[in-house]
Amino acid sequence: MSSTILLFLSLAVSAVASPLRPKFYSESCPQAEQIVRDVMKKAMERETRSVASVMRLQFHDCFVNGCDGSLLLDDTPNMLGEKLALSNIDSLRSYEVVDEIKEALEKACPGVVSCADIVVMASRDAVALSGGPNWEVKLGRVDSLTASQEASNKIMPSPRSNATYLIDLFKRFNLSVKDLVALSGSHSIGKARCFSIVFRLYNQSGTGRPDPTIEPSFREKLDKLCPRGGDESVVGGLDATPVIFDNQYFKDLVKGRGFLNSDQTLFTFPETREYVKMFSLNQSAFFDAFVEGMIKMGDLQSGRPGEVRRNCRVVNKRPGEALIDVDR
Ligand code: HEM
Ligand SMILES: *[C@@H]1O[C@H](CO)[C@@H](O)[C@H](O)[C@H]1NC(C)=O
Ligand SMILES: *[C@@H]1O[C@H](CO)[C@@H](O)[C@H](O)[C@H]1NC(C)=O
Ligand SMILES: *[C@@H]1O[C@H](CO)[C@@H](O)[C@H](O)[C@H]1NC(C)=O
Ligand SMILES: *[C@@H]1O[C@H](CO)[C@@H](O)[C@H](O)[C@H]1NC(C)=O
Repeated sequence: MSSTILLFLSLAVSAVASPLRPKFYSESCPQAEQIVRDVMKKAMERETRSVASVMRLQFHDCFVNGCDGSLLLDDTPNMLGEKLALSNIDSLRSYEVVDEIKEALEKACPGVVSCADIVVMASRDAVALSGGPNWEVKLGRVDSLTASQEASNKIMPSPRSNATYLIDLFKRFNLSVKDLVALSGSHSIGKARCFSIVFRLYNQSGTGRPDPTIEPSFREKLDKLCPRGGDESVVGGLDATPVIFDNQYFKDLVKGRGFLNSDQTLFTFPETREYVKMFSLNQSAFFDAFVEGMIKMGDLQSGRPGEVRRNCRVVNKRPGEALIDVDR
């Protein structure tokens, strides 16, 4: 009996970090990338912001135990997942777009394409569909068997972070200062809540004063959007052109018009300022560095056992579990 279970488990779970490569599904599911692109396009037509929201999932998935779809797991009675972690709760959105992609892929090629790979393909598509660069992604990731709210809480950075802190954080993932600045350029699309900026509008670092690096007329605009004591779920664009992936984000930072403290600090601190200036002047330099950063971030893997989930929100039922149930 126990040997039967072991056999099933070893079939269902691959135990080593898989080498990632382009065109991983070219034999097993040749339509995979087109299907992802099509669903993302439809999602964008329904709600423009949804593609930005999906792109953000790659960051929050890959930084916590590697790109393994752990972020997508719903909580269970035995496991606190990452969806309710500090940086994710009431903030990450558009999980249903990932579900829609998964459903389409399961119809075309059941049990083949991992949720972790879906996130990486969809993030690339979000950028390409918003006017940014297009690139070839490496694929072949497996989905985790668990998730860790605690790990997410420890790792994911707060919008209050300064550049020094972010440099150190990214270094832990072998991402350079240039990678940090380029990847922050993802904030060229999407929105953020007043919740994420009221401290810098009214009480930066506990001073009782606003962040002095905010350009005054921009601060007036933000004060109107996010009045003291107002509704903190109200959202504003992360840059002046929040549906177009371009280098406007960096032009804004140079003018003191960054939305988040973690954005503006990239211009305030000398370690990151030159990259901000360069990207503000040269959009192709930004696009090249962004693609390089996304590929490096996509390479992060935990090396733990995994599987191809049938439903991105839940771990597959182990054949062993079914056997145990039947035997009882
Ligand atoms: C460098 C450190 C980073 C910090 C501190 C940070 C923080 C944040 C915060 C606070 C928000 C708004 C959340 C809210 O108000 O609900 C946000 C939104 C967003 N972030 Fe980041 N982020 C960082 C890096 C990244 C990276 C590396 C990516 C992707 C490659 C990314 C993609 C996005 C996107 C696309 C949005 C908008 C999402 C939407 O409209 O739903 N961020 N980020
Ligand atoms: C940056 O943030 C870290 C962590 O919050 C803090 O310890 C440090 O003093 C800050 N650095 C500067 C120069 O403000
Ligand atoms: C960073 O690179 C070092 C040396 O190549 C490697 O040992 C380490 O595992 C890498 N860290 C991550 C998080 O990938
Ligand atoms: C500002 O923040 C500090 C420290 O976090 C706190 O002690 C103070 O009460 C805050 N002031 C206001 C006006 O909220
Ligand atoms: C802009 O950056 C690209 C690298 O992506 C470089 O080839 C080009 O020479 C740069 N242009 C200028 C005007 O510096």
